[in-house]
Amino acid sequence: MAGTGKTGRRLVRTLRAAGQHVRAASRSSEVRFDWSQRATWQPALAGASAVYLLAPEDPALAVDFVATAVDSGVGRIVALSGRGIDQIEGDFSPGMVAAEEAVQNSGVQWTIIRPNNFNQNFNEDLWRQPLLDGRLALPMGATPEPFIDAQDIADVAATLLTSHGHHEQVYDLSGPRALTFATAVATIARAADRSIRYVELTPAQYQAELLAQGHLEETATALNIMFAGMRAGHLAEPTDTVRRVLGRDPLDFDSYATRAAAAGAWS
Ligand SMILES: NC(=O)c1ccc[n+]([C@@H]2O[C@H](COP(=O)([O-])OP(=O)(O)OC[C@H]3O[C@@H](n4cnc5c(N)ncnc54)[C@H](OP(=O)(O)O)[C@@H]3O)[C@@H](O)[C@H]2O)c1
Repeated sequence: MAGTGKTGRRLVRTLRAAGQHVRAASRSSEVRFDWSQRATWQPALAGASAVYLLAPEDPALAVDFVATAVDSGVGRIVALSGRGIDQIEGDFSPGMVAAEEAVQNSGVQWTIIRPNNFNQNFNEDLWRQPLLDGRLALPMGATPEPFIDAQDIADVAATLLTSHGHHEQVYDLSGPRALTFATAVATIARAADRSIRYVELTPAQYQAELLAQGHLEETATALNIMFAGMRAGHLAEPTDTVRRVLGRDPLDFDSYATRAAAAGAWS
């Protein structure tokens, strides 16, 4: 699933390069799959032995989808979740919580991966435009974050989908080093040769900025819940899981920033 997303499209490439037969599925993928159209689920699953699952927002859909996958003969599920999901207080990502539970109760081989924030949030997602505008403003304080590269997540997922020894495991995935957002922004500013400031906001200021930018209230609230969990330090320690699964270190943030800048991410 999610074959066009930050992790999914890299996973498709990695698996194909390894000679695996892969069907990328999403609303705009070669195999059409839409959470809101149940008629697309079974055709997308037909013939699949293993599935990479990104949770939908609606918990009920997650539960029904896992049941449909198992009925369809899927024997292995690798589910993408988020680090700290079991520690973050508040109503954070109920779809993901439901997907984790459904996968764990599915009766098939499963692994759950819970990554830190992705490097690619800075150049393919929410934080790219603020960086281009010269100001990234977040309510993060000085708590560091061991950002992880989406390619490392994809490489881990590819290994879990195609090899044994990782079943019934929940893996926290991080990059090699925790750095503050101020340091991350300074690193990108240097790599991109741009003037970019990191600005610290209160949660209330962050909420107001997101709403002013046109985000939905529920999105702003979910992001604030996530940042509260991050500020509390639940996700701050690097893990050695990427090295344990892949036998190599995850990509460092400096290398990510240099490569992304060279590819024109912030030009
Ligand atoms: N970003 C982070 O730092 C971070 C950290 C930890 C966990 N996560 C979790 O990672 C997940 C996001 O993964 P990602 O970054 O790989 O994906 P992504 O870049 O956010 O892309 C979303 C994917 O889902 C597909 N999609 C969206 N709506 C859909 C629908 N209604 N039906 C079917 N497919 C749909 C999209 O494809 P189409 O548009 O073609 O449908 C796309 O492939 C989220 O669950 C997030 O909570 C993110």
